[in-house]
Amino acid sequence: MKEEIERLLAEVVDLKCRTQKEVEEARVRLLGKKGEITRLFEEFRALDKDGKREFGRALNELKNSAQNKIGELKESVGGDSVSDGPKADLSMPGDPLELGSRHPVSIVRQEIVDIFRKFGYDVAEGPEIEDDYHVFEALNFPQNHPARDMQDTFFISAGHPNPLLLRTHTSSVQVRAMESMKLPIRVICPGRVFRNEAISARAHCIFHQVEGLYIDEGVTFADLKQAILLFAREMFGPETEIRMRPSYFPFTEPSAEVDVSCNICHGKGCNICKGTGWLEILGCGMVDPNVLEASGIDSKKYTGFAFGMGLERIAMLKWRVNDLRHYFENDMRFLKEFDTAVEV
Ligand code: DAH
Repeated sequence: MKEEIERLLAEVVDLKCRTQKEVEEARVRLLGKKGEITRLFEEFRALDKDGKREFGRALNELKNSAQNKIGELKESVGGDSVSDGPKADLSMPGDPLELGSRHPVSIVRQEIVDIFRKFGYDVAEGPEIEDDYHVFEALNFPQNHPARDMQDTFFISAGHPNPLLLRTHTSSVQVRAMESMKLPIRVICPGRVFRNEAISARAHCIFHQVEGLYIDEGVTFADLKQAILLFAREMFGPETEIRMRPSYFPFTEPSAEVDVSCNICHGKGCNICKGTGWLEILGCGMVDPNVLEASGIDSKKYTGFAFGMGLERIAMLKWRVNDLRHYFENDMRFLKEFDTAVEV
């Protein structure tokens, strides 16, 4: 009996079937009414006590393995004939894989990065979770400046002398660049920024900016103006004009806001430029000597300019999007309008 059990166990382990018919034949041969394992059980019943003790367990194991194996084969083997392959009709056209497209904000960011790369700027990035020092203090924000207010800034650890917060602008990366890079510095810093604003067509609590910074000996406001003009013409077309209006930022002196001529009505006045012929695109100025000194740069020897712009705003002007919320809702109908499909 021992050899019989061992032989059948080996057979079960090696059992291979190509069709359901073969599985059924194997089941009948082993476990059917007249099957080999059934026959062994009959012989087993005739054994004395000692014999039963000796073979009982092995016989049961054999039966279980055979049942399991037959069960497995039933699941895994195909139809009735050998030629029965998978059920699917392989000549059917497949489900097309939908290609995604790049998000409009990414497209604009890439365009801006490419333009400034041509001008010799490096790209720098900094942390989105920043400290008060890099977002405000080192950028010459007075202690009681309203931008530090809880209304505008998402604080993470309030009450600390240098609290952690979500950066409200990418100007913080300027500071990090000045701290870590060798002079002269020429960088642009794209990134996500956060402000505690109610969400509307014109404002969002998350948006994107690109910051630019150029520091060297003898950099002047004329260099700033030229850089912005070249950028505007690359971005909005060679006919584009710029105009600078005096403004105020704590970290630049003098400061300006820059408008580009409306590329929709070409200065005649339309509802996009609200009849003025001009569209505001960025803030800029000469880096305040206090800001240079705070990062250990000699403001007697070096001067520089900085600028910052909102990517959603540029994308809105470029594609005449009238509601900021579209950028964040991931509605396929909106996203598909920017059909520069991702190259794969
Ligand atoms: N950080 C400013 C903001 O978020 C934008 C800005 C203005 C950046 C003037 C600059 C600058 O570098 O010179 O509104």
